[in-house]
Amino acid sequence: MSNMKIEREGSVLSIIFDRPEKKNALTRAMYMAATRALAQADQDEDIGAVLFSGAGGFFTAGNDIGDFLLAEAKGEPDDFPAFAFIRALAACETPLVAAIEGVAIGIGATLILHCDLVYAAPSAAFRMPFIDLGLVPEAAATLLLPRRVGMAKAAEFLLLGEPFDAQEALRLGLVNEMIAPKDLKDFALERARCLAHKPRAALVASRRLMRGDRREILERIDEEGRLFGLALQSREARAAFAAFVSRSKPP
Ligand code: COA
Repeated sequence: MSNMKIEREGSVLSIIFDRPEKKNALTRAMYMAATRALAQADQDEDIGAVLFSGAGGFFTAGNDIGDFLLAEAKGEPDDFPAFAFIRALAACETPLVAAIEGVAIGIGATLILHCDLVYAAPSAAFRMPFIDLGLVPEAAATLLLPRRVGMAKAAEFLLLGEPFDAQEALRLGLVNEMIAPKDLKDFALERARCLAHKPRAALVASRRLMRGDRREILERIDEEGRLFGLALQSREARAAFAAFVSRSKPP
């Protein structure tokens, strides 16, 4: 089992990060399952939207740091299932919706830049700590985040690695609505269904236009991936991963 639940809910394909004991940190197997699910969504004409969510009150704490340490860092983005997933996100023709509660770190935060609709509980806690880990941002965040929130805020989030909450995400237009935790998934599912029932060709064409130049986004993902692969091998990155993996828990 990949700790990734893929469920059909009528016309919506639900991708649920399901590893709550590790705050839904994403393993290679989870990325691969999510990538397959996105391909399935594009191929199956009965699927009209994809909904991302997490189990246990968390979205995801990002890439599994143990996996980073294990990765034979060859400087080749193709080696990382995470990058195949990110490319699939950017290229997906099916509308993407996210329901976010709790931690949304790393890819958990950058993923929302590829979603059409994002709903968050007040507990949502976003962070993009790539630089503190000795890494560079991914998922075209270096292109899309400054576009979405301006260079000043993007510098706080990407360069300083400052966290932001649901309220700020809402204010900045990264989130559509804040929803009480008990209603979050149902609300997001209902919105996803709403998209799924729109005339498909018109929706896909409009969405493609709204998202801008896909080639530019994919090129940025590849460039970030190349630098990310190099950064993974750096002394700073290895030290940061080792510090996280070996950190002692308070009694
Ligand atoms: N990779 C691997 N394991 C992770 C993880 C990650 N990204 N995030 C959390 N976990 C694991 C912890 O190691 C811990 O496992 P353990 O119980 O076997 O020790 C478990 O999930 C619970 O996490 P813990 O740190 O004890 O919970 P917390 O509430 O104190 O802190 C976080 C939660 C998310 C703030 C903290 O775990 C964290 O900073 N994680 C790393 C986030 C990150 O840098 N991701 C990479 C982005 S590129």
